[in-house]
Amino acid sequence: MNSTVQSHLVGVYKRYPVILSAGEGAEVWDSEGRHYWDFLAGIGVNSLGYHHPDIQRILQDASALMHTSNLFWHQPGIELSERIAGISGGMWSLWSNSGTEANEAGIKLMRRIGHPLGRHHILTMHGGFHGRTLGSLSATPVRRYQEPFEPLVPGFVPITYGDLDSLAEALARWQPAGVIMEPIQGEGGIVVPPPGYLSEAVRMIHQAGAVILFDEVQSGMGRTGQWFGYQVEGELEPDLITVAKGMGAGMPIGGLLVSAKWAQAFEPGDHGTTFGGNPLASKMALAVIDWLDHGGLEHIRQMGTVMQSQLRALQNRYPDLIREVRGRGLMWGIKTSVPAAPIVQQALSLGLIINAPQSHVIRMLPPFVIDETAIAACCTILGTVLDQMTQQQMSG
Ligand SMILES: Cc1ncc(COP(=O)(O)O)c(C=O)c1O
Repeated sequence: MNSTVQSHLVGVYKRYPVILSAGEGAEVWDSEGRHYWDFLAGIGVNSLGYHHPDIQRILQDASALMHTSNLFWHQPGIELSERIAGISGGMWSLWSNSGTEANEAGIKLMRRIGHPLGRHHILTMHGGFHGRTLGSLSATPVRRYQEPFEPLVPGFVPITYGDLDSLAEALARWQPAGVIMEPIQGEGGIVVPPPGYLSEAVRMIHQAGAVILFDEVQSGMGRTGQWFGYQVEGELEPDLITVAKGMGAGMPIGGLLVSAKWAQAFEPGDHGTTFGGNPLASKMALAVIDWLDHGGLEHIRQMGTVMQSQLRALQNRYPDLIREVRGRGLMWGIKTSVPAAPIVQQALSLGLIINAPQSHVIRMLPPFVIDETAIAACCTILGTVLDQMTQQQMSG
């Protein structure tokens, strides 16, 4: 590890003293030649891993248009919206450059839909995360993120995630324009709601005359082994879905998907983006969709099963350190009884990249292309770290 990294980058991130410089599949090397298994994939972004041939081919196409502006059509953009319609039950798409921006668009669209009805409230979930811009931050009820930036955008009402009584009460009380939630909370610590919650929530929200936005920025585009995380409970027909992270395999692209019912709710001039969905980003997203469509989703489900059983085996070996293993597909969290940060730090020093979105949760979002060798390597390193902690506890 390089302990002397300095730069003029504004310090909104606490960075590890490591300069990553090359990668292949799920493996990455730092500037000093050290090797790491990457089980975080740029926080769920490098879906096809490093240096994937399909991505290299797109990047090497010198004749490609990189950007056109959204005043014109371009073929990759047309194709991408058609492919997305095909996998989402006919949803329309509005592209952005990140998950936060996709949620901003979604929040605005919920307001736009509610406006003629005199509804502007939006229900959000405790533990949820939707981004850092003022609208998406206002939808993210985490005190330490919100408090320094008050006053926030008004009208967001946080309720208890996974609790239908809390939802019923808030729908009746606030008559909201919409509800925003993640099908699995990612930054909140890989929190999976109880079975049946998502489908019943959608039914109740629609019955109350509100719209539902599933924030699939982390859980969508194959991460859970299905196109979207909500599909674990069937085809629920959400009004809005937001996507980003892994959909561009490293190229910044996100999007708001809108059901046909609301596709005309935004009019020209209501929203916009200079870069969003440019030809290069659209081609990258098409490559990811192709990969997922040609056996990729099945591969994620298979690798997910392997990860689940190996993580559960670790839990059985270290029941005092691991409280719970939770997740789906290639989105996993380990709830620990001890602070997670030292585990993450020690794993890094042994060549494994993971992170801790919450004080007692380790998160893993590996690239979709991982294989059993990578999973075994990850679990061996984790086992070594937990062994060392057990020894320390015994001697301390
Ligand atoms: C569920 C969810 N929504 C939104 C965001 C924000 O996305 P971005 O960082 O691409 O703006 C994130 C990022 O972690 C996320 O996990």
